[in-house]
Amino acid sequence: MKIEKVMVIGAGQMGSGIAQVCAQAGYDVILNDLNVQLTEHGKNTIRCNLLRQVNKGRMKSEEMEAILSLISLSTNLADGRDADLVIEAAIENMEIKTQIFRTLDKITPEHTILASNTSSLPITEIAAATNRPQKVIGMHFMNPVPVMKLVEIIRGLATSNEVYETIEKMTKTLEKVPVEVNDFPGFVSNRILMPMINEAIFTLYEGVAEKEAIDEVMKLGMNHPMGPLVLADFIGLDTCLYIMETLHEGLGEDKYRPCPLLRKYVKAGWLGKKSGRGFYEYK
Ligand code: CAA
Repeated sequence: MKIEKVMVIGAGQMGSGIAQVCAQAGYDVILNDLNVQLTEHGKNTIRCNLLRQVNKGRMKSEEMEAILSLISLSTNLADGRDADLVIEAAIENMEIKTQIFRTLDKITPEHTILASNTSSLPITEIAAATNRPQKVIGMHFMNPVPVMKLVEIIRGLATSNEVYETIEKMTKTLEKVPVEVNDFPGFVSNRILMPMINEAIFTLYEGVAEKEAIDEVMKLGMNHPMGPLVLADFIGLDTCLYIMETLHEGLGEDKYRPCPLLRKYVKAGWLGKKSGRGFYEYK
């Protein structure tokens, strides 16, 4: 299974990062989203990231142009008709994802591997929407994609060994470290990370400490690069709530119950950095 052409669906924070690292590794990339503004915004983010490298003298501007020239923009899923791998990084909504996978299953050639960057939804259920569940797999990148080394590789119930090995190898070509996990709610990363963030929110909710103090304890005491409340703002509070709900529903235990304060913030539209306000304010 040779991978030369990669289609990335979703040009947001995750999709643009995935497209960037794929192009940097020399793959031909099609960056797809619902409209031209979104795809152009995604490519612009990539350009800004690469320009930072150029300005720091780590990359020549010709190299930057060569990387950018590998990324073509698309607003039509049918542009994936000759992709060897599709990585879906669309919104975390099962209905939307299964719709995309159903369409991709019809459009792409038989050999194409269909991967999802979902952070917690079952790969097995996404795969069941296609006629090629053996070629469906999870590739869960971490944010910010260009910086974070991990890709959690999730095997669906039917994922073949050949597909797993191809994706593991391809991930290494992106200079990332693949880690194999099985298909359970939240996989490994979010099953551990999100309850920690949720507990930090409960700690604030119950008045154990001020938000700054909670973050400082975890930063200085545990050497985390960001405190859990800043990290929640950075991930997006709506995303954190969605993942907690997926864990709560999928694993059925009270320990995964989302903190009422998290629900309240999301209802208020305080979604973190992207909305200008979460636990902290952002200008
Ligand atoms: N895109 C590209 N590069 C970025 C970036 C971004 N959004 N943000 C920071 N960087 C780069 C900077 O350019 C800088 O690069 P150089 O060292 O080459 O100059 C480097 O990252 C460090 O940045 P800073 O010095 O500005 O800040 P920092 O040292 O605090 O690092 C950080 C920033 C890497 C984000 C760090 O704070 C960190 O690791 N935070 C935790 C991130 C984390 O936990 N991510 C996982 C989230 S969970 C997830 O993604 C899964 C999910 O399903 C929810």
